[in-house]
Amino acid sequence: MDFKLNEEQEAIKEAASAFAKTELLPEVIERDIKCEFPKDLIKKMAEMGFMGMMVPTAYGGGGMDTLSYVIALEEIAKIDASAAVIMSVNNSLVCWGLERYGTEVQKKKYLTPLASGKSLGAFALSEPEAGSDATSQKTTAVDKGDHYLLNGTKNWITNGYSADYYLVIAQTNKEKGHHGISVFIVERNWEGFEVGKKEDKLGIRASDTCSLMFTDVKVPKENRIGEEGFGFKFAMETLNGGRIGIAAQALGIAAGALELSVKYALERKTFGKTISEHQAIQFKLADMDIEIEAARLLCYKAALKKDNNEDYVRASAIAKLYSSKVAMETSIEAVQIHGGYGYVREYHVERMMRDAKITQIYEGTSEIQKIIISRKLLS
Ligand code: CAA
Ligand code: FAD
Repeated sequence: MDFKLNEEQEAIKEAASAFAKTELLPEVIERDIKCEFPKDLIKKMAEMGFMGMMVPTAYGGGGMDTLSYVIALEEIAKIDASAAVIMSVNNSLVCWGLERYGTEVQKKKYLTPLASGKSLGAFALSEPEAGSDATSQKTTAVDKGDHYLLNGTKNWITNGYSADYYLVIAQTNKEKGHHGISVFIVERNWEGFEVGKKEDKLGIRASDTCSLMFTDVKVPKENRIGEEGFGFKFAMETLNGGRIGIAAQALGIAAGALELSVKYALERKTFGKTISEHQAIQFKLADMDIEIEAARLLCYKAALKKDNNEDYVRASAIAKLYSSKVAMETSIEAVQIHGGYGYVREYHVERMMRDAKITQIYEGTSEIQKIIISRKLLS
């Protein structure tokens, strides 16, 4: 086992880190306050190849491995967790599924602009009454010969406000349970498709989250991905990889919080010495470091398993569960180390604490990850 990144991975890490520090950092606080989607910055990330990292170059992507993707996401999330989730959804929930299961026509028409960053994608599985219990889909797609008629509401869709293309999961045959669920590519400007208002969120406020409403939206047959009834499997398989992205986002939040805490501890003085000289603070930093290192290894392991075509369901659930717990705990400690300064926006760690929470909820809550892990153990 080699714990050293190769030259290409080191270069990706450096490029992502430099971009995050020079481009994302300057206005990250303002974007959080104003809930401002970083449109121009996402374009720049696309130019760097970050919006379709694992897609083959033939389809406009970067042709990179999952480990490189995890490394880049960590660096982006260290500074801006909102930009990280925008990137993660486009890469692992939208591009991956299209690349893996799309037809050649779908890939040319949709994957290429999405992977090159000309367009942005969203993944719409959740509904008002179908979150963890994802098989309880109420959105329907009724076969009308050469097209389907799509009706229903999706909830909480990341990139929902800004996307051009949406992967929408819908019920095509209720009697068949989860085998009666299908997945479709839907374009934003189609008649009957309405995007709701942006949610006013606790964290990741610069990413947009909103509901999607479909009223008799005509979806051409050729926009179904895979066979009818394949939609639930498609969603589950996509989420197996997506969870590696969210794990990396959580890892980045934690690592960013530690970096700021070390810097602050070396500067802030109390009782005639820097707080870094108090053992209580040293031990907090050591605990954070240990947890982050463990989370990083779990993220890398899940990524390597995916790259090696091994079963990565358990590994990605473990990485997501653990890294999100570390993000939450570490960011709370970072606020504590900053004292009162940690409680105001200027010092960044309060935002990190708010951003961390969502990583324990989306792409399957921590409780759902435990269901996935225990089912694997017991099967
Ligand atoms: N990988 C592949 N297939 C899977 C799977 C996995 N991890 N988990 C389940 N399946 C398959 C099963 O094999 C089964 O298929 P067959 O019948 O053909 O064998 C089918 O799915 C149904 O499985 P279950 O009976 O286990 O289904 P369940 O109703 O008990 O639910 C669950 C399983 C894991 C809880 C699932 O509902 C789930 O993952 N829920 C969480 C939903 C989620 O993560 N949503 C995220 C939305 S996207 C998002 O959040 C993006 C963002 O914020 C940025
Ligand atoms: P519920 O499923 O109602 O769960 C409520 C609580 O009950 C949770 O603590 C849960 O863990 C627990 N629980 C539920 N079932 C069980 C069980 N069987 N055993 C033990 N505990 C259980 N979805 C998308 O499709 N696409 C997106 O892009 C997207 N982006 C999101 C962005 C944000 C900011 C948010 C908040 C959500 C997003 N989601 C998205 C939805 C997200 O995936 C769901 O919120 C999540 O899966 C949980 O579903 P729920 O909110 O309905 O909670």
